[in-house]
Amino acid sequence: MRLILMGLPGAGKGTQAEKINEKYGIPHISTGDMFRLAIKEGTPLGKEAQSFMDNGELVPDSVTNGIVEERLAKDDCEEGYLLDGFPRTIPQAEALEDITNKLDRKLDYVIHVDVPEEKLLERLTGRRVCPTCGTSYHVIYNPPKVDGVCDKDGSALIQRDDDTAETVQKRLDVNVAQAQPLLDFYEEKGILITVDGDQAIDKVFEDIQAQLDK
Ligand code: AP5
Ligand code: MG
Repeated sequence: MRLILMGLPGAGKGTQAEKINEKYGIPHISTGDMFRLAIKEGTPLGKEAQSFMDNGELVPDSVTNGIVEERLAKDDCEEGYLLDGFPRTIPQAEALEDITNKLDRKLDYVIHVDVPEEKLLERLTGRRVCPTCGTSYHVIYNPPKVDGVCDKDGSALIQRDDDTAETVQKRLDVNVAQAQPLLDFYEEKGILITVDGDQAIDKVFEDIQAQLDK
């Protein structure tokens, strides 16, 4: 299965991607995670992406499209892939079409996790992530078993640098402006699935599965 998970910042793309990956065994490809790893490792890509991410802006398409093309060409994407957070602009969507045509790995569905914007600030400022395995939690909606500690590997949880109230608002503004044209792009292709993301995490996943298993 070849999928895109689309949704505003905090909609639950990463949370649902983890569940889809567990159930369907397709690689989870998050451009945000790839940039964060590059920043942590101090690579040239990380240096290029950091200022955009810190300001809540999009990393330029020329950079982002290149890393996606490289990633989708890997062997583990032969049986499918799950893109999270890419594409975010129409030029990225067009680039993706070229890439997947070239690789003969064309998209099956785009899953839009739909959450009203006013719910997202609280989701993002309450998010805590594991710096070791990347699992994300929420202080109220998805707390770890022991406060501040990852259930999976015991690491101390941290807040993402771009989850401050000020940067979150900037990210929301930037992404809201891009969202509708992209949804229209995939609606016209007849591959858009919208699920109500304003429900409990497991219920959202049930709805995604119901659509995919059809
Ligand atoms: P990225 O890392 O993709 O961030 P984002 O799009 O802002 O989305 P998030 O990861 O913040 O949210 P999510 O939807 O994954 O939510 P999560 O599951 O964690 O990108 C970061 C930056 O990288 C961008 O700002 C940009 O600079 C750059 N970038 C990345 N891709 C790019 C691209 N294509 N082009 C250009 N630049 C790019 O959930 C959030 C919280 O809510 C968690 O605490 C979670 O536990 C909780 N939660 C989840 N689901 C529910 C639920 N159903 N109910 C209650 N709480 C929930
Ligand atoms: Mg995410």
